[in-house]
Amino acid sequence: MPRPKVFVTRHIFPEALDMIRRKAGMELWEDEMPPPRATLLQKSKGVDGILCLLNDTIDAEFFDAAGPQLKVVSQIAVGYNNIDVPEATRRHVAVGYTPDVLTQTTADFTWALLMAGARRIVEGYNFVQQGKWRTWHPLHFLGQDIYGATLGIVGMGRIGFEVARRATGFDMKILYYDVNRRTDLEAKLPMTYVDMDTLLKEADFVTLHTNLTKETHHLMGDAQFKKMKPTALVVNAARGPVIDHKALYRALKNKTIGGAALDVTEPEPIPSDDPLLKLDNCLIVPHIASASVATRKEMSRLAAQNLINGLEGKELVTCVNPEVYHN
Ligand code: DGY
Repeated sequence: MPRPKVFVTRHIFPEALDMIRRKAGMELWEDEMPPPRATLLQKSKGVDGILCLLNDTIDAEFFDAAGPQLKVVSQIAVGYNNIDVPEATRRHVAVGYTPDVLTQTTADFTWALLMAGARRIVEGYNFVQQGKWRTWHPLHFLGQDIYGATLGIVGMGRIGFEVARRATGFDMKILYYDVNRRTDLEAKLPMTYVDMDTLLKEADFVTLHTNLTKETHHLMGDAQFKKMKPTALVVNAARGPVIDHKALYRALKNKTIGGAALDVTEPEPIPSDDPLLKLDNCLIVPHIASASVATRKEMSRLAAQNLINGLEGKELVTCVNPEVYHN
């Protein structure tokens, strides 16, 4: 039997690459940057599986280019808005993703963003770096208290819940909004389901944990920012387009809200001349919420295992479209 062929679109942990090499003929894209579109299509021609990232677009054109032998698309991320899943399902291609293994790390990082934004840590750091620190002053770098404040969580999935769990340590009032009320999770934590307007009005910190879908695209725009407290901070560790960045700029510039702390932007990377980068009350980091050594190792291993299972015709460990097995 000829060995299956796979394309891996970036370096992942070497142990995971070895797992794949043992089972398949692997072509690895060595560059740090994503393969250009034409290269992605050309290298995927005739493969049985692909291991891809959130910045590789996997759509009908990709499936046409890859060919009908393609069995599996294994994404190393929990989000998969770059993949046309209905199209994959229509073509009986299993789609893998990496939930659970990054939940705690991402929740930790959400808190790092929240605390850094609330207490102006990066502004303070820059101040010291720039040699501007001349004295202690009672009115310097005043931020917002976290202890006892109100946290508003938009999207009560795995990560949203873990963010909530950490908030109990700060004795916070926890509000959440989701399209589905989660009474199962309310039984585990003191948190209250509210509508989006109430959450925006009452929260001192609004943190976003939704998938990116047509419904959540620009979920946060002018109207939403206007409802927030002028001191409130918005945190985004979900997907950049959940926030309308032009509206965010207006809200931050006009002090409609107090600040923003973003792990994700629209587009990514954010262009170096984006006006958001000029604002002191906007903290932006380069989509690193899941970037701990242990978590990225586990994501690599799980993505590799999903790829291998797909090649071997087994159910993926974590599959976005399990209906491919039942049709
Ligand atoms: C994901 O997994 O979707 C994150 O954005 C990257 O870890």
